[in-house]
Amino acid sequence: MSKTSDGAKTDHPSDADRPGAELWLPERRTLTSLREAASGCRGCELWRDARHVVFSQGRASAAIMLVGEQPGDQEDTTGEPFVGPAGRLLDEALEAAHIDRSSTYLTNAVKHFRHHAVGKRRIHDKPDVGNIVACHPWLEAELAAVKPAVVVCLGATAVRAVLGRPLAISRARGQRFDGPDAASEAGVFVTTHPSAVLRLRGKDGFDEAFDRFVGDLEAAASAAR
Ligand code: URA
Ligand code: SF4
Repeated sequence: MSKTSDGAKTDHPSDADRPGAELWLPERRTLTSLREAASGCRGCELWRDARHVVFSQGRASAAIMLVGEQPGDQEDTTGEPFVGPAGRLLDEALEAAHIDRSSTYLTNAVKHFRHHAVGKRRIHDKPDVGNIVACHPWLEAELAAVKPAVVVCLGATAVRAVLGRPLAISRARGQRFDGPDAASEAGVFVTTHPSAVLRLRGKDGFDEAFDRFVGDLEAAASAAR
């Protein structure tokens, strides 16, 4: 939190609160050294209210890299990505698409949980562009270390982080985009975030949304072969 000239608190962190993650990147960039270094990152304000950095799960040899938004409450508590409700839906969709989760590399655009408290509950806040930009050096280093054949962006935050520009998910789905810098060999695919599908559970449109999500994952997996 920063202060305006009259001393009032604002919700806008100052640039001093967001120096960017670059300063914390180790010289040797293996997944192990990156993971270790990320736990000390102070590249933006989000580390302050979080319990854990949630770096990633998976191997450097993975052909498919899945990029989510940011850890949620359960991920922040355990330090592992996609272990909460959205993660369970993702697991169902991966299974339906015949993709073994353990063969993928799973990460997030932003590595700390952005949220606010209401009583004892911790309510998710979307990371803003400043968080995405501050955290980007980690994602770039992961892309360079893993060199996946395909990158799947799960939702708008991942798209903004991976491609560096905003894109409407509805129009970008089903297309292959060229990967950025370190991952220029990678094909980039765009799909919805699993929590958007999860919100439809028990409602009209769930089956269709789930099948479409599975179809996007299958298309990405076949491009990785
Ligand atoms: N949502 C995400 O985008 N990432 C996680 O790790 C969990 C939920
Ligand atoms: Fe660093 Fe990213 Fe966490 Fe911000 S969200 S402190 S840039 S790891």
